[in-house]
Amino acid sequence: MLALLAVGALSLFAIGAVLAKFATADGDFTLLSKGRAKRQRVEGKVVWITGASRGIGEVLAEQFACLGAKLILSSRNVTELERVKTAIVGKYPGASIEVLPFDLASDEETLKDVVQKAESLFSASGVEYMVHNAAYERPKRKALDETEEGLRAIFNTNVLGTITLTNLLAPFMLKRGRGHFVVMSSAAGKCPAPGQAIYSASKHALNGYFHTLRSELYHEGIEVTVVCPGPIRTYTTSGAGSSHSGSCKILLAEMSTPLRSTDHNQSMYHQKGVRSLLLLPQPMG
Ligand SMILES: NC(=O)c1ccc[n+]([C@@H]2O[C@H](COP(=O)([O-])OP(=O)(O)OC[C@H]3O[C@@H](n4cnc5c(N)ncnc54)[C@H](OP(=O)(O)O)[C@@H]3O)[C@@H](O)[C@H]2O)c1
Ligand SMILES: *[C@@H]1O[C@H](CO)[C@@H](O)[C@H](O)[C@H]1NC(C)=O
Ligand SMILES: *[C@@H]1O[C@H](CO)[C@@H](O)[C@H](O)[C@H]1NC(C)=O
Repeated sequence: MLALLAVGALSLFAIGAVLAKFATADGDFTLLSKGRAKRQRVEGKVVWITGASRGIGEVLAEQFACLGAKLILSSRNVTELERVKTAIVGKYPGASIEVLPFDLASDEETLKDVVQKAESLFSASGVEYMVHNAAYERPKRKALDETEEGLRAIFNTNVLGTITLTNLLAPFMLKRGRGHFVVMSSAAGKCPAPGQAIYSASKHALNGYFHTLRSELYHEGIEVTVVCPGPIRTYTTSGAGSSHSGSCKILLAEMSTPLRSTDHNQSMYHQKGVRSLLLLPQPMG
């Protein structure tokens, strides 16, 4: 009888704990259960972040610095990149940070030079993590009101630049037998996004490309993580840094989510923001 009571009390407690967790969780349960980002996966590694001059990219840079990564910060505005660098070094005095400004909408020749530079910034090691975070997004407008100029501007940066950069960097990673692409897609890359048709189309394009890239390069040590967050409040003005770093820990945990194989020969892959578990075909080759 006493044992039964004890079991009952324990179950009640467990249910209460789960409910409390459910009420307070700010991320996906599977990802949250993985705990904090693991320092040993990042420490001393070169992490290249685009769009690091503000918003999510700035917070990610700070979080990676906190985990002991060597950082390459990119975006167009060198002044803003220097500001981010100074702020991070102020917080983590030992941090190694290089600033590499460039425009993602540049031609392949320019991007080739940029990749070469990124690979040689830290003499001992090339790029381990490429965080494709930069994106161009215009104020909302209806699909039929979009101009050709807007279409090109969004696709040049979000899609063509990002894919070209990947194609230029991947051979270096393949030579080392390891590397990790982290792609900041969006819930708009999964669901309709009224007022953001072209942006949504650009994120769908990234998803298609990077899920396929994963299937082709998985056996050669290259990992691909596609992150599809819902709306995240960011600050477009300077100095937003650590004010919302809490949400970033979840992003980082998500980034370390590896591709897992099941006995059904399918790869399970989890996306945050959109609460769905996707079953993808097994990797090729
Ligand atoms: N915030 C959200 O609610 C949300 C939700 C889902 C997904 N996302 C995605 O998360 C990523 C970051 O979002 P965010 O809100 O932090 O963005 P953000 O504040 O608008 O920052 C965009 C970043 O991209 C850089 N960038 C823009 N055009 C560029 C170009 N042509 N070449 C190089 N860099 C360029 C910008 O720097 P410069 O101006 O200095 O070039 C800036 O650092 C994006 O991919 C976005 O689509 C955001
Ligand atoms: C870069 O950022 C600085 C500081 O925020 C700003 O004054 C400047 O206009 C920006 N430059 C460009 C080319 O946008
Ligand atoms: C999984 O794939 C491998 C080779 O790709 C094959 O040998 C094996 O039989 C498959 N397993 C199942 C359960 O289908």
